[in-house]
Amino acid sequence: MVGPGALGRVFAARLSRVAPTALVARSRERAAALAEGYELVLPAGRHERVRLPVFGPEEAPPARWAVVLVKGPDTEAAARVAGAVAVEGVLSLQNGWVRERLRAAVAGRVPADQGATTAAAMREEGRTVWVAAGETWLPPAFAPLAARLTAAGLPAEATPEAAARRLEKLAVNLVVNPLTAVLDLPNGGLLDPELWATVRDLVLEMHPVLAARGPLPDAEELLARIRAVLTATAANTSSMRADVRAGRPSEIEELTGVLLAWARAGGRALPRHEALYRMVRALEQVHRGEPLEE
Ligand SMILES: NC(=O)c1ccc[n+]([C@@H]2O[C@H](COP(=O)([O-])OP(=O)(O)OC[C@H]3O[C@@H](n4cnc5c(N)ncnc54)[C@H](OP(=O)(O)O)[C@@H]3O)[C@@H](O)[C@H]2O)c1
Repeated sequence: MVGPGALGRVFAARLSRVAPTALVARSRERAAALAEGYELVLPAGRHERVRLPVFGPEEAPPARWAVVLVKGPDTEAAARVAGAVAVEGVLSLQNGWVRERLRAAVAGRVPADQGATTAAAMREEGRTVWVAAGETWLPPAFAPLAARLTAAGLPAEATPEAAARRLEKLAVNLVVNPLTAVLDLPNGGLLDPELWATVRDLVLEMHPVLAARGPLPDAEELLARIRAVLTATAANTSSMRADVRAGRPSEIEELTGVLLAWARAGGRALPRHEALYRMVRALEQVHRGEPLEE
């Protein structure tokens, strides 16, 4: 597991019950800090202490599979390590769209691809909280890994449908993440009728660009799915809202940045998404205490 953050710690803890599993941290120092283990809070509220082998990038041992679970800006560094150790394949379960960057960093050594997951976890007061097991979709080449994840209590399926799930997750995140970050609202705040009109506008604007990239539900169905996600996670803080507030880089490049690049390539303008992109970029600067660019 390359990326011992919220989700990486949950996946590694569960996988270690069915297969030898190690964590790879950003640096030797970060690995040493994790060597004593970590506290995991399970969805039922029970706590457990998890202690797994942890390595820095230079010491990472060979593995059948490597799973990349870092934030978007760290993709290349993590994927290079993953590609160097993995024998069978490198899987990213990151949000946003990092497929091409992942593959470029792995450089054809082993198959590398991006899946999608609705599993959820967060870090809170030094503990890792596993919020939901969710569902995970992997491209077909990752069937043995899907079987292990399922056996570990993380329901996963290796299916050609992973491409559709990945695009749909991207579509949902493209609306929910930047909008909740800019408005500083929990997810459920977007269900307010006035804000819902903005959600609708954003979906209608981006839909043709995303639909040109793969199978996607029609705009009304996509809106219904976004509503279901917002209702189910009404009290939650999106990862982008949390990142921006904490002064950390967000995954705006892997989300809206990619959408805008796709739109440009197709000769389309997406003014609403462009505005959101600029606002998130400005907020990142403000929360880091940097002066805004002219
Ligand atoms: N959390 C969720 O519920 C959830 C759900 C679905 C998808 N995702 C996606 O999964 C990805 C990870 O999310 P997260 O919430 O787990 O993030 P996170 O808590 O920020 O964890 C990222 C981890 O990656 C480590 N890292 C950074 N660069 C690295 C490198 N080069 N090599 C090894 N480790 C490195 C970070 O280390 P430092 O602490 O040293 O920076 C951190 O431990 C994101 O793309 C996110 O959108 C998350």
